[in-house]
Amino acid sequence: MSNESETGQIEYAIESDLTVDEFIGVLKASTLSERRPVDDHACVAGMIERADLIVTARAGGSLVGVARSVTDFHYCCYLSDLAVDERYQKRGIGKRLVDETRARLGPRCTLILLSAPAAIEYYPRLGFERHPQAWILEPGKHTR
Ligand SMILES: CC(C)(COP(=O)(O)OP(=O)(O)OC[C@H]1O[C@@H](n2cnc3c(N)ncnc32)[C@H](O)[C@@H]1OP(=O)(O)O)[C@@H](O)C(=O)NCCC(=O)NCCS
Repeated sequence: MSNESETGQIEYAIESDLTVDEFIGVLKASTLSERRPVDDHACVAGMIERADLIVTARAGGSLVGVARSVTDFHYCCYLSDLAVDERYQKRGIGKRLVDETRARLGPRCTLILLSAPAAIEYYPRLGFERHPQAWILEPGKHTR
């Protein structure tokens, strides 16, 4: 699962054993760290350990992109974190990470995500549709 990019070899892979530091590193390099709990080591460790599908992009062995999903592979897949190192953005790596994720899901599986503000214009370009019936219950909030 590799691809020759315009600027050199980018290797794509499924990895379940990223280190916390490596994952935080690519979140920071992409700026997604501003919206992820990178100061909470236990939380980030759990995000990696309990993820169902982590697709990585590496350049010369260095992690430059990641797509981390929670999924049953059959009906729903929540693409929680899509991040590409700023130095490697706009070369098709984000799209490829989504494609590699999609390729591992069954034919009835819906890909679901919450967009970061800076990426609101990105997902429609990839073919995602805005869903008017999406709902979230934020951390610390309970049903009433
Ligand atoms: C959003 C992100 C993952 C996109 O990754 P990327 O590798 O740069 O994206 P791609 O190269 O696959 O881009 C595909 C197309 O979308 C465009 N695009 C990239 N980022 C965009 C953005 N933020 N807004 C609108 N269009 C964007 C590209 O120019 C490209 O267009 P083209 O096909 O006409 O050339 C990356 O910019 C990133 O990590 N951003 C910071 C973290 C973030 O916001 N992540 C999303 C969390 S929900």
